[in-house]
Amino acid sequence: MRHVIAGNWKMYKDSEQARKYFQELGSRAAPDASRVEVLMFPGFVALGSLACQGVVPSWVSLGAQDVSSEPEGAFTGEVSPSMIRAAGGTFVLLGHSERRHVVGESDALVRAKLLNAVQGGLSPVLCIGESLKEREEGRVREVLFRQLDSALAGACITPAMRLMIAYEPVWAIGTGVNALPVQIDEAHALVRERITELLGPGIARDVPILYGGSIKPANFAEIIALKSVDGGLVGGVSLSPVTFMELVTMAAG
Ligand code: 13P
Repeated sequence: MRHVIAGNWKMYKDSEQARKYFQELGSRAAPDASRVEVLMFPGFVALGSLACQGVVPSWVSLGAQDVSSEPEGAFTGEVSPSMIRAAGGTFVLLGHSERRHVVGESDALVRAKLLNAVQGGLSPVLCIGESLKEREEGRVREVLFRQLDSALAGACITPAMRLMIAYEPVWAIGTGVNALPVQIDEAHALVRERITELLGPGIARDVPILYGGSIKPANFAEIIALKSVDGGLVGGVSLSPVTFMELVTMAAG
């Protein structure tokens, strides 16, 4: 399976900064598309401004960092799947730890968003992961299964929806402390086991499982070499086109 490298800009970069970033990315040789797929998740405003500028290289797919649980209506401040698609987004992050733990999104809301996203034609990247306390209490399996079950049980997921799972342990996000290979392997095996039960082996086999949390060029070779890792979801290091491309090159290698 080819690797996936996804950048999550979080609440960084306005429209002009995004334009410059993609101009710089576009000046580089395109990576081998048979070996690596590249996704980028700008903020909504930058995403909207990029649609018709022609600066985003054709080898980068765009996505949104969040989506409403409703298709349309009187929901002030929300953004619908069709708005994201109109802005050129084809993917969406769901259940990112900052939305679960900072904004306070529940498992139920993440599920509603996921169902709305796929009904609206977006490909979901479902983010899951345990907190440090949950890990220390030996509850990794329980937490990952709960997050997967609540989002996916009974959902009709087809291959065309291109579901991806991102395992992002909360304690590794933005801390400089990445999970160890053995911890990643264990967690990804749990994810693969559960999505096989939830979605069936035919679908689950092809769902990429990405790792996220303090990925940088210095630790990425070891992480992407793991058989259980289909790619990476990158925060801080995706903000520079130079370091982001280093990761893309490593993933294609
Ligand atoms: P960092 O790479 O900055 O740790 O962020 C990871 C992340 O949250 C990606 O979604």
